[in-house]
Amino acid sequence: MSELNTYKIAYEHEKKARKLAEKLLEDKTRKLCDNIMHLEGVVSELKTTQIQLILSAKMASLGQLTAGIAHEINNPIAYSYSNLFCLSENISNILKLDKVLQAHNPEKENTDEIFKKYQKVRQEIDADYLISDTPTLLADTIEGIERVKKIVSNLKKIAYKGDEELIPCSINDCIKDCIKVSANELKYTMKVKLELSDCDNILGQPYDLNQVFINLFMNASHACNESGILTIQTAQKKGHVIVSVKDNGKGISEENILKIFDPFYTTKPIGEGTGLGLPTSHGIIKKHNGQIEVQSEVNVGTCFKITLPLA
Ligand SMILES: Nc1ncnc2c1ncn2[C@@H]1O[C@H](COP(=O)(O)OP(=O)(O)O)[C@@H](O)[C@H]1O
Ligand SMILES: [Mg+2]
Repeated sequence: MSELNTYKIAYEHEKKARKLAEKLLEDKTRKLCDNIMHLEGVVSELKTTQIQLILSAKMASLGQLTAGIAHEINNPIAYSYSNLFCLSENISNILKLDKVLQAHNPEKENTDEIFKKYQKVRQEIDADYLISDTPTLLADTIEGIERVKKIVSNLKKIAYKGDEELIPCSINDCIKDCIKVSANELKYTMKVKLELSDCDNILGQPYDLNQVFINLFMNASHACNESGILTIQTAQKKGHVIVSVKDNGKGISEENILKIFDPFYTTKPIGEGTGLGLPTSHGIIKKHNGQIEVQSEVNVGTCFKITLPLA
């Protein structure tokens, strides 16, 4: 075979190989494009799911609170209602005395007679008791209504979802608001110790941050029986506010602690736990450029530490 022929064959081979490579490249590029489009779809789906998760977690933590709050509101409303019922009876009885005087005809009856009639009705309605009972009933009713007003105003502070704008907020105030609305849930399981130090404001979303604290307080309450102690500390260090939420509850094992920030991980019975509290809290703290860490020992307790940059 001549040198030219050999060259020609080699050239044809190379041409074929190049065409094949080009085709392969084109196929791969097309596949890559398809994959990218698919991934874009997945990312947008994930974003929607994440928003839904945050909303579900918020609903769940509000749901847990609502039962307690309904009970807390029900009690003063029930006794205010029953007081009003007694008060209306008292008033209609006291008006009976007025009727006696109004019906008095000075031309037909003398003062002694009318006084006797008056005394009779006074005894019938037990006027002495009515007079001493009425101010107490009124004071209790006002106190009951004021309690309901306070509960509702506390609830507004945490339930209202404002816009997404970050505003200067005091972590200590957030913690105090959250303790107020969680008080009913916590009172059966634990004593609360607040050890708050003066801290500068952070830039944040108080409603989102409140969701984080309420979830941590609820989790602590679920981990404790009636002799629990919840210690909440704040401190300011090197441009950060550090919050620690510590309980002396049942703790988390080394194996499980790796899972607690996973969505849907819960050790609570169905209907009680959703497994969304901690993953959502993690997301909210990340959004604030902060960090959330946990330390725990079985049968000793758990401590969550949140670090947030100052404004
Ligand atoms: N303070 C705590 N003490 C013990 N276990 C905890 C504590 N906080 C969280 N956990 C564990 O982490 C799990 C996940 O918590 P979370 O995401 O808030 O979901 P949920 O409260 O709905 O179970 C809980 O089910 C519990 O097992
Ligand atoms: Mg929870």
